[in-house]
Amino acid sequence: MIKKVKLGSSPFICPMPVFLVGANVGDKPNFLTVAWGGIAGERPPMISIAIRHKRYTLKGIKQTGTFSVNIPSKDIVVETDYCGMASGAQFDKAINCHFDIFYGKLLNAPMIEQCPLNLECKLVHLIDLGSHALIIGSIEETHINQTCLTNGKPDVTKIKPFIYSAGYNNRYQVFGDSIAKAFSAGSTIINREK
Ligand SMILES: Cc1cc2nc3c(=O)[nH]c(=O)nc-3n(C[C@H](O)[C@H](O)[C@H](O)COP(=O)(O)O)c2cc1C
Repeated sequence: MIKKVKLGSSPFICPMPVFLVGANVGDKPNFLTVAWGGIAGERPPMISIAIRHKRYTLKGIKQTGTFSVNIPSKDIVVETDYCGMASGAQFDKAINCHFDIFYGKLLNAPMIEQCPLNLECKLVHLIDLGSHALIIGSIEETHINQTCLTNGKPDVTKIKPFIYSAGYNNRYQVFGDSIAKAFSAGSTIINREK
């Protein structure tokens, strides 16, 4: 039997994604790093992020009712970490990171050109969960670098995202080898148990 150790009631999962979430606060774009987030629905496409109430970016999300989720590539890991350490209340992070900002159909959800994948989102729900607000947004448009497509579909090996590994060593890590085909490898068991 595998020996399990209890970690208590804790928000640890692995891996965690790394997003740069953007919003205009006043007239300035601001971005924070978010690891607590993920896809929340397909029809309509929805995303969720957990943001601590005191974050400066949250002000902008509440003010404008919009936000962006930008997926950084490994080329901007330093800027991504910086956006998770410095607050827009004190620093102009977009300028300090030399981010080129663009806007899409929502007009006021700032997106980062240097991130290969960008989602424009409308705030749909804000749920107070104690330390954090759970923000649920509808994904209104998805932008991707043309160079990150293969046969017209997003190619993760070209997007080069990275994950956040909390736990003992607190690292950002790139994806490893492809190990099996999804919605396919499990057929071995389906066929065996027929
Ligand atoms: C890897 C990493 C992941 C983070 N994930 C979150 C998160 O999911 N939610 C959150 O509220 N803050 C998270 N933070 C902390 C914020 O990004 C950080 O406090 C940031 O400075 C807030 O910026 P702002 O005040 O300009 O909004 C994370 C930081 C790092 C480095």
